Amino acid sequence: MAVFVKFFLTVVLTISVTAVVTDSTDADLILNRIKPSIEGNSQNLLLKSWNTSVPLCQWRGLKWVYTNGSPLTCTDISSPQWSNLSISKDPSVHLVSLQLPSANLSGTLPPELGEFSSLQSLYLSVNSISGQIPLEIGYGSSLSDIDLGNNLLTGSVPASVWNLCERLVSIRVHGNLLSGSIPEPAVPNANCSSLVNFDFGQNRFSGNFPEFVTDFKSVKDLDLSGNNLSGEIPNELSRLNLVKLNLSYNNFSGVLPDFNRLKLGEESFEGNLNLCGAPLKPCKRGSGGLTSGAVAGLVISSITAIVVLASVAIGYSQRKKKGNLDEEDDEFDPEEEDEAAGGGEGRLILFEGGEHLTLEDVLNATGQVMEKTSYGTIYKAKLADGGTIALRLFREGSCSEGGLWLPAIKQLGRIRHESLIPLRGFYQGKRGEKLLIYDYLPNKTLHEMLHEPRPGKPVLNWARRHKIALAIAKGIAHLHSNTETPITHGNLRSKNVLIDDFFIARLTDFGLYKLMIPAVADEILAAAKADGYKAPELQKMKHCNSRTDVYAFGILLLEILLGKKPGKTGSRGGFVDLPAVVKVAVLEETTMEVFDVEVLKGIRSPMEDGVVQALKLAMGCCAPVASVRPSMEEVVKQLEENRPRNRSALYSPAETRSGVDTPF
Ligand SMILES: *[C@@H]1O[C@H](CO)[C@@H](O)[C@H](O)[C@H]1NC(C)=O
Ligand SMILES: *[C@@H]1O[C@H](CO)[C@@H](O)[C@H](O)[C@H]1NC(C)=O
Ligand SMILES: *[C@@H]1O[C@H](CO)[C@@H](O)[C@H](O)[C@H]1NC(C)=O
Ligand SMILES: *[C@@H]1O[C@H](CO)[C@@H](O)[C@H](O)[C@H]1NC(C)=O
Ligand SMILES: *[C@@H]1O[C@H](CO)[C@@H](O)[C@H](O)[C@H]1NC(C)=O
Ligand SMILES: *[C@@H]1O[C@H](CO)[C@@H](O)[C@H](O)[C@H]1NC(C)=O
Ligand SMILES: *[C@@H]1O[C@H](CO)[C@@H](O)[C@H](O)[C@H]1NC(C)=O
Repeated sequence: MAVFVKFFLTVVLTISVTAVVTDSTDADLILNRIKPSIEGNSQNLLLKSWNTSVPLCQWRGLKWVYTNGSPLTCTDISSPQWSNLSISKDPSVHLVSLQLPSANLSGTLPPELGEFSSLQSLYLSVNSISGQIPLEIGYGSSLSDIDLGNNLLTGSVPASVWNLCERLVSIRVHGNLLSGSIPEPAVPNANCSSLVNFDFGQNRFSGNFPEFVTDFKSVKDLDLSGNNLSGEIPNELSRLNLVKLNLSYNNFSGVLPDFNRLKLGEESFEGNLNLCGAPLKPCKRGSGGLTSGAVAGLVISSITAIVVLASVAIGYSQRKKKGNLDEEDDEFDPEEEDEAAGGGEGRLILFEGGEHLTLEDVLNATGQVMEKTSYGTIYKAKLADGGTIALRLFREGSCSEGGLWLPAIKQLGRIRHESLIPLRGFYQGKRGEKLLIYDYLPNKTLHEMLHEPRPGKPVLNWARRHKIALAIAKGIAHLHSNTETPITHGNLRSKNVLIDDFFIARLTDFGLYKLMIPAVADEILAAAKADGYKAPELQKMKHCNSRTDVYAFGILLLEILLGKKPGKTGSRGGFVDLPAVVKVAVLEETTMEVFDVEVLKGIRSPMEDGVVQALKLAMGCCAPVASVRPSMEEVVKQLEENRPRNRSALYSPAETRSGVDTPF
């Protein structure tokens, strides 16, 4: 009670003082408004220095400037500024920073914090300040650094903070009790172009990921950890040049964007149970996941498969193995290794994300032929529990024997990237049959989307084609930069690119040539030649390398830009040489006419939207001399630097369906 009375008297006293002073200075505001509010109910030692009988220079935690910008220097004790007590009454002296971290403050933040016209930094972290953040904070027209972290603040963050957007460099409210959703700037497309630190971690914020942050291109350190945020993490986030990101311990869900470029680890995302994708656990696609189920009949609609799989079934020992989810690094079941070594039963190797599968699941799956290739057959197989997998069965004799394939398979099983369809398992039967187990994706191939007109086909505008090309490039770049041994895709073509409803592209068939005997691998090469994807210098599949992949990518990118099928066409056997088509157009100065009409639709300037750059890039990739082709990393970089400006063209599922019949 005594404390309260004293506090009351101070307020009355100071109010009467203000009444006398006509022009209230920043120092007056500090004394009369800020001090009583942040000090709380007990006297604070540091704030004792805020007293008109103490020189302004000695007021702890405060820095001052004159209106002309020159600082009130407080180092030279002999200077009049130091000892002249009247300076606190000088209206040309302004508060520039208020920094009292760990000062044992226990009051609240007063609205008058917004009344300092020159206040740039406000650091009040690690105190016991409670109550709400006043909305007036957004009126502090010079505020650029705010740190209110580790206090007891409650309520929501006022949207007015984004009034400060233009000069804000750092905003931290980490470790409070703040709730509600993270407020959006009132101005659309605010970009807060100086904001580097955005730390709203360890509070009670709920709602979705604050998507507007992805427009703040200068943000380097984003911390939203330890809240109750939910929903998906937007892909655009991966385009920021983040140095630090912490989204841990929220309730985010869905697939993580590809943060590969930023080299972010698991610790940035942990504690979000429904989040998947590298660097977290891989996502399980299809309904129900790949869990084991009741035993059903083996119904495979292909004679070959029945023969092979039946023989597999006979060889299958009754010991049903279940992978343990926790043993993520342990891709081998040692016992099955032994079995293989014993030479009798065949071997099942499971990779990350395939741990649920048992041989029984695979053998009891109901299969349907999706595609026949030169080296085997691809099945869509339904598991008894409703999940679906894709099985790739190598034709007998197509695989190399001996120890060669095993390291290659193990390497392929470790590859995880959002643009690459993951290998979940591998089975070798006792007669040498080989079966690769992949996620099944019910998607169209890029080849179908580009070249097979059908009703309801989505418009492939430039934004979408760019997204597809970039995803493909990233997938290939990931293979080429594989840490152990770089991997060559070896069979890059539009038929090996799957596209989902959101125009996310994923590659199949990568690295498989390594498993094949040379004669079969060279059949792939012959097909690549016929279809125009073969690099001119490549004569034997075993010599394929990252540069020959880049060539194939160049052709694929031309195919995407021109909408034309490369290579042999129809039974008459004409050959479409896409690079030659472009060269002719350039010579005849009809370059703009080579593009598919859908590409240029809605584009304001083909130059500024990166269309022309993409064409140049594709031509560079198709350079006849391998050494002058760019690396895949360079390709990714260039595609990223030359993006279509109208990104909204990407995300309009309604337009996808209805825009179909619109003639251009
Ligand atoms: C300012 O300091 C003087 C002398 O130290 C003290 O008597 C006075 O009470 C202080 N005033 C306030 C408002 O704390
Ligand atoms: C003390 O400061 C006031 C306000 O800035 C100024 O008007 C006055 O001239 C100063 N006095 C001396 C002795 O410097
Ligand atoms: C912090 O403030 C409390 C009152 O709020 C006081 O009891 C305590 O002594 C202060 N601690 C320090 C280190 O000043
Ligand atoms: C940020 O916004 C301002 C004003 O809205 C604009 O002038 C500026 O070009 C924008 N910067 C970027 C990088 O978009
Ligand atoms: C992320 O935040 C969580 C909880 O706030 C913390 O435990 C973890 O150490 C942080 N991780 C990183 C990488 O900063
Ligand atoms: C988190 O948010 C959900 C709604 O999204 C709510 O039901 C739940 O109570 C919140 N949890 C906490 C701890 O605030
Ligand atoms: C997490 O989010 C899901 C919806 O995505 C919701 O159903 C669930 O209740 C949330 N969990 C918590 C603990 O808030």
